[in-house]
Amino acid sequence: MRINIAIDGPSASGKSTLAREICKRLNYIHLDTGAMYRCAALHAERTNTNINDDDELMDMLDTLNIELTEEGKVLLNGEDVTDAIRTNEISMASSNISTKRIVRERLVEMQQEMAAGKGYVMDGRDIGTVVLPDAEVKIYLTASASARAMRRYLENQKRGIESNLITLKNEIVDRDYQDMHRKYSPLRQAEDAVLIDSSDMTVTEVVDEVMRIISGKI
Ligand code: DC
Repeated sequence: MRINIAIDGPSASGKSTLAREICKRLNYIHLDTGAMYRCAALHAERTNTNINDDDELMDMLDTLNIELTEEGKVLLNGEDVTDAIRTNEISMASSNISTKRIVRERLVEMQQEMAAGKGYVMDGRDIGTVVLPDAEVKIYLTASASARAMRRYLENQKRGIESNLITLKNEIVDRDYQDMHRKYSPLRQAEDAVLIDSSDMTVTEVVDEVMRIISGKI
C-alpha cells in the first residue's frame, strides 16, 4: 500500500535530506515545497514585483511555472534554478513572500495537484496542517537553532561557500520567527504529527526512526 508522508519543520532542520532518503528507500517522489516558495521569490525579484501589491503579485503568479524533476532539479519557467534559489537573499525573500495569502493559495493548489495520488513525500511548513491534512504519516522535524546553524555552516564549507556561524544562526532565528508568526498557515506541529528533535541524532538515526513509523502504517 502506498501512502503520503508530510514532513514539516523549521528551516535547516533536515527535512529535505530526510525526504530524499525516504524516497530512495520506498521509491516515492519527493516534493520540496520550500523550493516552490523560493522560485516565487526569485521570479518576483526578476519581474520587479512589489510583493505588497496584490495586483502585481497576481501578475507575477500568472507567469510562474515551476517544475520539480525526479532528478531533484528545480525549473522556473523552464530554466534550471536549483542553485540560484539557495542564496541567503532568496531564503529570506521566500519567507517574506510566503506570508502573502494569494501566493500561498496558488502554491498550495499546485502542491495538491502534484500530490493528487499516493507515494509522495512532501516537505515544508504547512503540509500536515493545510496541504495534505489526510497524509497517513506526519512528521514534525526540529532541532536547536545552534545545531541547525552548524549543519548549514558545514554544508556551505563542503560546497566551498564561506559563511559565518553567528550570522547563519541569526538568519535561522529570524526566519523561524517569521514563519511561525505569520497570519496565514504559520508553521506549527499538526496535532497528529510525530515530533522528532534531531539536535543530537545522525541522519541515519532520523531516517531509521521515520521508517519505523512508516512501517507501522503500510
Ligand atoms: O524549506 P525552505 O527553507 O526551502 O523554505 C523557504 C521558505 O518558504 C520558508 O522560510 C517559508 C516558506 N515555506 C512556506 O511558507 N511553506 C512551505 N510549505 C514551505 C516553505
